[in-house]
Amino acid sequence: MIVCAGFNVGEKTIRTMIEEKGLKTHQEVGACLKAGTHCGSCVPEIKMLLKKAATTLNW
Ligand code: FES
Repeated sequence: MIVCAGFNVGEKTIRTMIEEKGLKTHQEVGACLKAGTHCGSCVPEIKMLLKKAATTLNW
């Protein structure tokens, strides 16, 4: 599923990056994948993924 339409970044890609690099903020996701750095409409969704990952990974 595509989260960031502007940069064509999917949920799985973001999720993998969060886990591998230990990303905690949507700014960090943006720095790695560009997702969320253009129109910003996907930022809430990225935040949600971060929250989900934090819960699952017990950060
Ligand atoms: S959809 Fe992600 S920055 Fe616009």
